[in-house]
Amino acid sequence: MDVRNNPWIMPFVIFLCFSLKPHVSLGADTISANSSLSGDQTVVSAGKVFELGFFKPGNSSNYYIGMWYYRDKVSAQTIVWVANRETPVSDRFSSELRISDGNLALFNESKILIWSTNLSSSSSRSVEAVLGNDGNLVLRDGSNPSLSPLWQSFDFPADTWLPGAKVGLSKINNRNTRLISWKSKDNPAPGLFSLELDPNQSQYLIFWKRSIQYWTSGEWNGQIFSLVPEMRLNYIYNFSYVSNDNESYFTYSMYNSTVISRFVMDDGGQIQQQTWSASTNAWFLFWSQPKTQCEVYAYCGAFGSCNAKSQPFCDCPRGFNPNSTGDWYSEVFSGGM
Ligand SMILES: *[C@@H]1O[C@H](CO)[C@@H](O)[C@H](O)[C@H]1NC(C)=O
Ligand SMILES: *[C@@H]1O[C@H](CO)[C@@H](O)[C@H](O)[C@H]1NC(C)=O
Ligand SMILES: *[C@@H]1O[C@H](CO)[C@@H](O)[C@H](O)[C@H]1NC(C)=O
Ligand SMILES: *[C@@H]1O[C@H](CO)[C@@H](O)[C@H](O)[C@H]1NC(C)=O
Ligand SMILES: *[C@@H]1O[C@H](CO)[C@@H](O)[C@H](O)[C@H]1NC(C)=O
Ligand SMILES: *[C@@H]1O[C@H](CO)[C@@H](O)[C@H](O)[C@H]1NC(C)=O
Ligand SMILES: *[C@@H]1O[C@H](CO)[C@@H](O)[C@H](O)[C@H]1NC(C)=O
Ligand SMILES: *[C@@H]1O[C@H](CO)[C@@H](O)[C@H](O)[C@H]1NC(C)=O
Ligand SMILES: *[C@@H]1O[C@H](CO)[C@@H](O)[C@H](O)[C@H]1NC(C)=O
Repeated sequence: MDVRNNPWIMPFVIFLCFSLKPHVSLGADTISANSSLSGDQTVVSAGKVFELGFFKPGNSSNYYIGMWYYRDKVSAQTIVWVANRETPVSDRFSSELRISDGNLALFNESKILIWSTNLSSSSSRSVEAVLGNDGNLVLRDGSNPSLSPLWQSFDFPADTWLPGAKVGLSKINNRNTRLISWKSKDNPAPGLFSLELDPNQSQYLIFWKRSIQYWTSGEWNGQIFSLVPEMRLNYIYNFSYVSNDNESYFTYSMYNSTVISRFVMDDGGQIQQQTWSASTNAWFLFWSQPKTQCEVYAYCGAFGSCNAKSQPFCDCPRGFNPNSTGDWYSEVFSGGM
């Protein structure tokens, strides 16, 4: 059938074009110069693996721009990246994520800029943000997509390390790509604990308040970290260490690419490897370090005592009271008493 000869098809096609709104439609993987995201709109990676939009963590009343697995992959909303960790909004419908001055930028209810990718202004009109199936949000020049990214979320992780991302050091701009825990389940702002590459050796360190080191993986010998012997039994993660003139980092892939897995620097101070179990619809804790919560530095604060056998783990000596009862019961123990 020749379309041009059929008078019924043209009006139908025109109707379809008018019904496309100049907004991100559900399902698109790109925010381009003429589109924006607000309210319940989201972008979804091309293969429907990751989704990006406003979310509300735990019992918080604040909204953040975050990334989570698409619901067909992981049914429990699991945040793997947060943009505006320290600058939430309260009304997602009047806030807007869009391209502005060559950057991806978030404007709050008063149309004030509260988060941005912070690149020095580029004149390119075709900058766009694309959400990849690997969970990397890439800002690129849409007129030349094969050039290296202008900015990517993999360089600015929150508490989660996804397969394919790097955790390490850039020798060019001295940037340390580290995982930093959330403050609490309700607050994704940078918390007390961080996992980072030792600048002097090929090993990971966990820090409390970025200054006191309380765990080390031991050096990488090409196969395992020396103080993590259980890695010998590892049959799911393919780790590799790269060190050259420009950067040093670890990265990993999954031997079975259909397995959904991630590392999280947990708000309790442990680094955790979790894999999604589709049969139980829950995350399965595959591995964590330090082994027990009581080995986390200052977990119970200045005078608390930690008891690995009790739940909750922290206890106050007789005569002391928890300093902040609210925090204490929401399990932020390191406030002391
Ligand atoms: C948005 O911009 C893109 C690229 O410049 C263009 O292809 C598309 O037609 C535009 N969409 C609308 C709704 O204006
Ligand atoms: C939210 O509040 C409810 C009731 O107070 C509590 O049971 C739940 O654990 C809280 N969730 C988070 C993530 O804090
Ligand atoms: C938007 O952000 C600005 C700057 O942080 C702040 O002063 C203003 O109160 C915010 N608007 C709303 C409605 O929260
Ligand atoms: C962007 O720059 C401002 C001012 O230097 C800074 O406060 C903010 O944290 C930066 N944002 C990001 C996402 O790096
Ligand atoms: C790395 O080496 C430098 C110089 O010897 C030292 O000052 C620094 O503390 C070391 N860093 C760590 C994390 O050990
Ligand atoms: C493991 O990762 C390395 C480096 O990325 C890669 O060359 C190798 O093919 C991977 N091995 C398997 C079995 O996937
Ligand atoms: C280091 O960076 C420079 C400049 O971007 C590049 O030409 C070179 O190939 C890089 N070297 C390695 C080992 O990646
Ligand atoms: C990969 O994992 C899936 C479950 O996630 C399983 O069904 C499949 O058999 C695995 N493939 C291999 C080659 O082990
Ligand atoms: C107790 O809490 C207050 C307010 O949060 C804080 O200023 C103080 O430093 C805390 N005391 C200790 C010993 O942590």
